[in-house]
Amino acid sequence: MKDLQDRVVVITGGGSGIGRGSALAFARAGAKVVVADRDDDRSESVAKEARAVGPGALSVRCDVVSDADLTALRDRALEHFGAIDVIMNNVGVIAAGSPLDIPLSDWQRVIDVNLLSVVRSNAVFLPLLLAQGEGHVVNTASTNALYAYSSDRLPYTATKAAIVAISEALALFLRPRGVGITCLCPGPVITNISEQITFHGEVGPIQAPTLELLDAGDVGEMVVQAVQDDRFLLLTHPKEVHDILVRRADDPEGFLAGQIAAMTDSPVVSP
Ligand SMILES: NC(=O)c1ccc[n+]([C@@H]2O[C@H](COP(=O)([O-])OP(=O)(O)OC[C@H]3O[C@@H](n4cnc5c(N)ncnc54)[C@H](O)[C@@H]3O)[C@@H](O)[C@H]2O)c1
Repeated sequence: MKDLQDRVVVITGGGSGIGRGSALAFARAGAKVVVADRDDDRSESVAKEARAVGPGALSVRCDVVSDADLTALRDRALEHFGAIDVIMNNVGVIAAGSPLDIPLSDWQRVIDVNLLSVVRSNAVFLPLLLAQGEGHVVNTASTNALYAYSSDRLPYTATKAAIVAISEALALFLRPRGVGITCLCPGPVITNISEQITFHGEVGPIQAPTLELLDAGDVGEMVVQAVQDDRFLLLTHPKEVHDILVRRADDPEGFLAGQIAAMTDSPVVSP
C-alpha cells in the first residue's frame, strides 16, 4: 500500500511502546489511526498525539480477549472513518519463570491474549479486507520466535512462533486476494512491556538477545515502510538476525551449545 494518505489504520495495544510508535508513524505518513487499547488513558493520549501530526485519530477501549470488543472496535472505526485499510495485531504479554514454574493457567492466559487475539481479529477484520480486495495486516511477533536465546518465557515463545507460522500461511491465502500481510519480529525495544510481566518461582534477570536496544518510534517507521513496500517479514535487526539464522541452519548443534554458554552470562533486562 504505497500511498497511506487518508487510509485508516487500526492498532491494538496502540496505547504504548511499539503500538504507539506505529500509530504516530502512520499518522505522520498521512493515515487516520484508530488507537485501541484496554487502557483508556493510554489510547486517548496516543490518539491526541496522532491528531497533532496526522489527518485524524480515534481512541477505542478494546480488550483483545473479547470478541465483542473487537467487533465493536471494527464497527466504531467504520462508523467514524468509513473504512478500514490496515489492521495491526500488536498486543503481547509475558509470563516469566522457569519451564517448570509457569502454571497451566498462565499458559492459557498468554495463549488467549497473544495468539487467540489474532484468531479473533482475523474473524472480525479479514472478511472486510477480503471483500474490499485490498488492505494490509500487520502481526507483531518477536525475534524470540525465530531462534532460542531464553528459556524463561515459554508461553510467550510458543505464541510468537505460532504468530510467525500463521502469518506466513495466511500470506498464501491473502496475497492472491489482494490483501498484504507483514509479520513484525522485533528485537529488544524500549517500551513498557516489563510492567505487565507475571513472574513465577525464582526468576533471574530476564534473558535478552544480544541485539541493540531500539527506540519504539524507529520501529514504527519500519512498520510503515514495510506496509508501503508490501514486505512480509520485518526484522528490526535484519543483518544480525539473518547471520544468526544462517549460523543455526549450518550447525544446529553447535549453535545450541553456544546459546547455552551465552545464557549463563547475559543478564540484560529486556524482552
Ligand atoms: N518491547 C520489546 O522489546 C518487544 C520485543 C519483541 C516483541 N515485542 C512485541 O511488541 C508488541 C508490543 O509490545 P510493547 O513492547 O510495545 O509493550 P507495551 O506494554 O509498551 O505496549 C503494549 C500495550 O498493549 C496493551 N494491552 C495489554 N494487554 C491488552 C489486551 N488484552 N487488550 C488490549 N490491549 C492490551 C497495554 O495496555 C499496552 O498499552 C507485543 O506483542 C510484544 O510482544 C516487544
